[in-house]
Amino acid sequence: MDSWILVVDDDVSNLTMANNILSAEGMRISCVKSGEAAIRFLQSNKPELILLDVYMTGMDGFQTIALIKENEATANIPVIFLTSDDDSDTETRCLKAGAIDFIKKPFLPDVLLLRISHIIELTRLQADLAHEVEEKTHEVTVQSNRLEKLSIQIVMALSGAIDAKDTYTNGHSARVADYSRRIASLAGFSKDEQDEIYMIGLLHDVGKIGIPDAIINKPSGLTEEEYEIMKTHPVLGDNILSRIQEFPKLVTGARYHHERYDGKGYPDGLAGEAQERAKRDRPDDRKAGGGKPPHGGFSYQCFA
Ligand SMILES: [Fe+2]
Repeated sequence: MDSWILVVDDDVSNLTMANNILSAEGMRISCVKSGEAAIRFLQSNKPELILLDVYMTGMDGFQTIALIKENEATANIPVIFLTSDDDSDTETRCLKAGAIDFIKKPFLPDVLLLRISHIIELTRLQADLAHEVEEKTHEVTVQSNRLEKLSIQIVMALSGAIDAKDTYTNGHSARVADYSRRIASLAGFSKDEQDEIYMIGLLHDVGKIGIPDAIINKPSGLTEEEYEIMKTHPVLGDNILSRIQEFPKLVTGARYHHERYDGKGYPDGLAGEAQERAKRDRPDDRKAGGGKPPHGGFSYQCFA
């Protein structure tokens, strides 16, 4: 085993014995004779495990482990206490101080080796697991960011397609989205809410996809019948966007952006507070949003 062990004991015979037992198993051993020397050693070295005598002249094992655990660079190095005491108080005190285990002196070679082997194996497994979790977390974050970017790009492409269909108001959806986000910012909405409002703005006129080009781009005024067809685009948008269950607020922007506070808007002719109630109580939103209000009451008019 190619482990590096620091042994701290003011009794040279114990250091020698530990060195002989552990070196014979191929371990790299560093020995120091005091807690002070151990702290100095750890300033520029990072062994895999520390064997620390409890009772030493000068700084004892408890003072030494306290300094080791205080230091971020050494806090994770497992410490095994070496003690000739076998009472439960000492055992409790050792574990409370942060030791991972304790070994009774004089050492029994097999016990010393088994304890050290188990702890090193456990520490390596923990480090591997932590590394793996870190890697997976990074992968998930990268993937999540990519999906978020992809969603935004798809919405922007769709918004561009809507605007391209309507030659009179080219760029309208992008402008509405941009103005809406600026207004939301001035109104004190959070960054996430502003982003949502931006997306709602981009797709508010998506229903125009279902309106014939001859009506949308008619150079002269619309007949009454054509205007009635044009007025169906909020409901068409509602039908299209209600399939996106992860973002039910999109439906609100599409369906209600031509409502007016005086009740003369469309498609539902909602007046005043009835608009807000309708947005809260829509059966479709309840289905998709789990009964929560579709959004915080923000709405806008489309002057297409
Ligand atoms: Fe519109």
